[in-house]
Amino acid sequence: MKEQMWNDVDDYFTDKLHNTDPVMKAVQQNNADAGLPGIDVSANHGKFLSLMVKMSNAKNVLEIGTLGGYSSIWMGRGLPEDGHIVTLEYKNAHAKVARENIERAGLSDKIEVIEGAAIDTLPTLKSKGWSSFDLIFIDADKPSYPQYFKWALKLSRPGTVIIADNVVRGGRVLDPEDSTGKAVRDFMDMMADENLIDGTALQTVGSKGYDGFAIGIVK
Ligand code: SAH
Ligand code: DHB
Ligand code: MG
Repeated sequence: MKEQMWNDVDDYFTDKLHNTDPVMKAVQQNNADAGLPGIDVSANHGKFLSLMVKMSNAKNVLEIGTLGGYSSIWMGRGLPEDGHIVTLEYKNAHAKVARENIERAGLSDKIEVIEGAAIDTLPTLKSKGWSSFDLIFIDADKPSYPQYFKWALKLSRPGTVIIADNVVRGGRVLDPEDSTGKAVRDFMDMMADENLIDGTALQTVGSKGYDGFAIGIVK
């Protein structure tokens, strides 16, 4: 079956490139022990995010949707010495585990977890001194993606990289009956606005099934 092959190839790349990483293994174990859902990015996708941080020379990163901090830590590893990540998480239990994991990864001085519904915490960031971010990773509740995109633009500058996870979801993006699909399509309508952003979307297969992400550079 194709799905099996996608998994095997993902495992092959993970084993080849990322499997000697005790910190990341401990983070995943800690998440599982705490009962967090296994919906973090894959190791290969995490490294991709880390490389994006490096390639865009990002110093200030915003993440919407922390879970156990797995993707935050990957991105944190791509930061320069004076880099920072602000990551937003709704659930107290997730934020707690994320802080433990971030501590374990030695990134507590670089990564700040802000608790609360992102739609409430996003408007507080400017007054906390975060005027614009260099890279923004959107990965929280999918129905809110259109609102998160608007906030991402408000908290961006020309050149900011915006990445949004889970824009395919097994093809449900095209399902007219799927309310999350509708939200993702509304999000894609904004991504398609050439006055706002220069973007694209890529489909992915692997250990997380069939999904994809959108990526763009703010105009
Ligand atoms: N980026 C993480 C995965 C995030 S999963 C990683 O790859 O490791 C999505 C997270 O978004 C969950 O922890 C969920 O609790 C959180 N979330 C859901 N709704 C939210 C909201 N309204 N505001 C902030 N976070 C939210
Ligand atoms: C879900 C959320 C994610 O961010 C993801 O990458 C996969 C699944 C979910 O809520 O089901
Ligand atoms: Mg995701």
